[in-house]
Amino acid sequence: MSIAILTNHKDPKSWKKALQEKLPNVQIDIVGESEMAFNAEFLVCWKPEKGQLKDFPNLKVIQSLGAGVDHIFDTNLIPTNRKVVRIVDPNLMVDMWEYTLAATMNYLKDFPIYAQQQNKKAWIQHKYKTISTTTVSVMGLGKIGGYVAEQFAKLGFKVQGWSNSIKTIKGVKSFAGQLDLSLFLKNTDVLINILPLTANTTGILNTTFLEKLPRGAYLINVGRGGHLIEADLLPLIEAGQLSGATLDVFQEEPLPKNHPFWIHAKIVVTPHIASLTNIESAVNQVVENYQRMVKGEGLLNEVSPKKGY
Ligand code: GLV
Repeated sequence: MSIAILTNHKDPKSWKKALQEKLPNVQIDIVGESEMAFNAEFLVCWKPEKGQLKDFPNLKVIQSLGAGVDHIFDTNLIPTNRKVVRIVDPNLMVDMWEYTLAATMNYLKDFPIYAQQQNKKAWIQHKYKTISTTTVSVMGLGKIGGYVAEQFAKLGFKVQGWSNSIKTIKGVKSFAGQLDLSLFLKNTDVLINILPLTANTTGILNTTFLEKLPRGAYLINVGRGGHLIEADLLPLIEAGQLSGATLDVFQEEPLPKNHPFWIHAKIVVTPHIASLTNIESAVNQVVENYQRMVKGEGLLNEVSPKKGY
């Protein structure tokens, strides 16, 4: 049994080194370096190209190198006898929490505005917002979203969450389904999207949806670029319906140089760094999944192909 590593926009060599240290007797090949890779039963994978997984006839397990698996289901038809597993790592939860907190505080205290004023040496005070009067609404209360929502509540924010089913999280008002959606959006000051990207959630952040927010709400998208209809965002900001956005994910990544988001005063752009899989902390679960596959045991963090997460 062997392992192949197939990555786009992630370094395959560090993964090979980390895996080989833990599995010294296992054949591990990087796609593009060795034809042997195509014999593998276990594929460590990030953003495969369209149809590329057809080239691996022996594949049993596809291990995503991130929390998300949309990059696998979007580009490849996965036969039912192949299992797809993802990374669930406490570091991803904490890192996402730190990023969303930073983006929220940045907005509450107008730092992007002051950065622009500083360029012009302009001394103009703005009325700031506070934690206790701000409602943060988290879309997606899975492992990461649930943790993020709970931490915001612990800090004293008013917190709501929206997901497929009602969740019990301390300090978080839980909403579920389409019926609850208007109610959820109505009271939101900062909307944070951490949903998985599926057929049901693609394009969810569109004009009709975002118009249900109170005027002047703020958007943070750390889910996937495919959640946001990008062309809808600028008119909503220009009209004052949204006061701005922090975006970490985009329809096309890297964000094309001529994209208007780069230079918009009310949009903060970061290059998909909100929470990055840390090899040292994630390698053990990849090794464990490989060993479980060899022994024919149940896998860790298996994804439902039907649900897509
Ligand atoms: C990052 O985007 C991930 O899916 O882990």
